[in-house]
Amino acid sequence: MDVFRISGGNQLIGAVTASGSKNSSLPLFAASLLSEEESILENVPELSDIKFMAEIIRDLGAEVEKLNSHSWRVNPKAIVHYAPYELVRKMRASICLLGPLAARLGRAEIPMPGGCVIGNRPIDLHIRALEGLSAQVELKGGIVRIDASNLRGGSLFLGGRHGSSVTGTANAIMAASLASGITTIEGSACEPEIVDLCEMLLKMGAQITGIGSHLLSIEGVDRLHGCRHHVIPDRIETATYAIAAGITNGEILIKGCQSEHLGAFANVMQECGIELSNQAKSNLLIKVSPKGLNPFKVITLPYPGFPTDLQAQMTALACIAPGLSILTERVYPSRFMHVPELLRMGAEISLEGPSAVVQGGKRLTGAPVMASDLRASAALILAGLAAKDETWVQRIYHLDRGYDKFDKKLRALGAEVERLPENALPKSFTPFFE
Ligand code: EPU
Repeated sequence: MDVFRISGGNQLIGAVTASGSKNSSLPLFAASLLSEEESILENVPELSDIKFMAEIIRDLGAEVEKLNSHSWRVNPKAIVHYAPYELVRKMRASICLLGPLAARLGRAEIPMPGGCVIGNRPIDLHIRALEGLSAQVELKGGIVRIDASNLRGGSLFLGGRHGSSVTGTANAIMAASLASGITTIEGSACEPEIVDLCEMLLKMGAQITGIGSHLLSIEGVDRLHGCRHHVIPDRIETATYAIAAGITNGEILIKGCQSEHLGAFANVMQECGIELSNQAKSNLLIKVSPKGLNPFKVITLPYPGFPTDLQAQMTALACIAPGLSILTERVYPSRFMHVPELLRMGAEISLEGPSAVVQGGKRLTGAPVMASDLRASAALILAGLAAKDETWVQRIYHLDRGYDKFDKKLRALGAEVERLPENALPKSFTPFFE
């Protein structure tokens, strides 16, 4: 297990290029199984989650080949309908295989992915979607078994207590694309990653209208064909670099991003005193306004609301911005595992129900901290960039699931960040009891 050593205090200055979106790529790999023909995915980020997904669909029987650092070929001609728990448990996004396997093969068996540190992650909306398409669903021995031998279009409502489900919507769209008749999905997620999935399905021959809205209509077709698809830029990665610029009082040009996916985030950054300005060719320039940082308020919501996947990183920023900031989680109300670690760095944060109340403006001090999940890892690294002295972030494998070459990209911007083996950790940092 690698660790990151960060010497904080450097202003980040320079240019960085956005990678392809993780949360687009994963369902797109699943979508490629809907056809018997080969598909090519381009602009796929180099991440451990992508390797897991490739491993799972290879295990299903597909030919999966990495053509170059960011392109993959998937030939799913001969696949089976079940995936083993040893592979599925590594990644919750494997639940996206339910829809394509059920639709293409008439049945699917996928183990429930299990618990997750960011909170309860049920799959009732995925099941509701498939049942609404006339599939029989059974949960037995921890395995979701679907009989979809007679998949038919239906009227679905996919709103849940915390809004719509992103991967639940993805499953519904993929299954409906090959179901007979017309499906309407009310309360569908409309994240850019869902739009990207629909764009790929259109290229494969699917009939979908209402793309980008909360009401989709899908007319099922008999078969889909292979396609070539270029994954959209990762909006969460882009925003994380924008926060890195703000937290270090730096100036960063982010190349190849899609700023129209950052609406709610850009508003909060403006409130905080960080300017995002569009430049030519999908480039975004980030710098702190001459008046400096202000406190801000965030409520996470499904798109187009403020993304939960940026709450942890914004909490780190709130520690630096002078004044009282409040961050409220409406998507995963207990997604605050980064808070105890930020406290170890001298942050002043109190958790009040699903809200973090942050008294910012104090310089943080480096400390050994433990990453609990992907976005918490990014938050701790951002805090380390702004802190005095050295921060050691442990369990960096969480970061490798979702940030393509984070350390390398940060170093190119002037950060002092090193990836080291765990045994490089100073002895005084090793916990007594483990
Ligand atoms: N929910 C239900 N029932 C369901 C499914 C979800 O109640 O059947 C609830 C969840 O508990 C949560 C809310 O609905 O409160 C939203 O969950 P959603 O299903 O949308 O999450 P997801 O599809 O499993 C994706 C991203 C997550 C991101 C969430 C929310 C992928 C592969 N994952 O997960 O990304 O946090 O949407 O935007 O797309 C990350 O990248 O760090 C990450 C966790």
